[in-house]
Amino acid sequence: MNRLTLDACAKLNLTLDVGEKRPDGYHNMEMIMQSVSLYDTVDITLTAKKDIKVMSTKPNLPTGIHNLAGKAAKAFKSYVNLNDIGVEVYINKRIPDRAGMAGGSADAAAVIRGLDILLDTRLSADALSAIALSVGSDVPFCLFGGTALACGRGELLTPLAALPDCGILLVKPDFSVSTPALFAALDGCQVRLRPDTRGAVDALCTGDMKALAGRMVNVFEEALPEAERRIVVDIKSELLSAGALGACMTGTGSAVFGIFPTLEDARRADLGRFGETFAVSPVKSI
Ligand code: C5P
Repeated sequence: MNRLTLDACAKLNLTLDVGEKRPDGYHNMEMIMQSVSLYDTVDITLTAKKDIKVMSTKPNLPTGIHNLAGKAAKAFKSYVNLNDIGVEVYINKRIPDRAGMAGGSADAAAVIRGLDILLDTRLSADALSAIALSVGSDVPFCLFGGTALACGRGELLTPLAALPDCGILLVKPDFSVSTPALFAALDGCQVRLRPDTRGAVDALCTGDMKALAGRMVNVFEEALPEAERRIVVDIKSELLSAGALGACMTGTGSAVFGIFPTLEDARRADLGRFGETFAVSPVKSI
């Protein structure tokens, strides 16, 4: 077998808290991550050429090793010492980029999983996770998916009770904020509201959607520039008016989501005026 196609699913942060900046320049995180049913399709082919090629349906995305999928192929090849193998990746993009939904990280994780299968290297979960972390902080979660508490840079993962069935409406407004810039802004601001992560984990354990939805907080919202913060506040308030049990920004944005009792409820909410919208469901495992 020299070709494989895998789904790469987007993630949301049900909670997101940022701790202190570490000596290595990264921040300690505490966040509840959730896979959702919005997928890129990643087609991976082994070739006789030695190079790494990445193409996608979005012409603005970087190709080769400047794309996280290419960086993942390079990291995998060097980890297993198979530098002579060529890898071609074609990505059918559906996850919006610069949305805080780990679109690039999900593609990278799919490449790592795919190469482990195609090359029959059978690496341990720890080894796959180490390769993933060398590519980006969200990539280890994207390898395993489901519902998990992520600490450290995002690589210390504890599986959690699955998010109960529900509908999620994602809204991607037309702005994006640089991730390093938002971390820097957060370092300089006094955060007023932090998530009750323990309470959210307990709510997942008991399957109490209302309690969980009421604890969805992302500290990055406070660090956004004022105009963008207002847009996020408006979207959240519209989601709640449309019947969402809770609403929150994901990652460093700019996508905002609301959790509804059912997928039908999420589909009915009309927030198209704020940007692209996607009605999705939680994914239990990938
Ligand atoms: O790991 P990744 O490449 O996704 O991180 C992008 C940037 O986000 C880092 O260069 C750093 O500025 C910031 N970051 C951080 N702490 C983390 C994750 C990311 O400061 N835990």
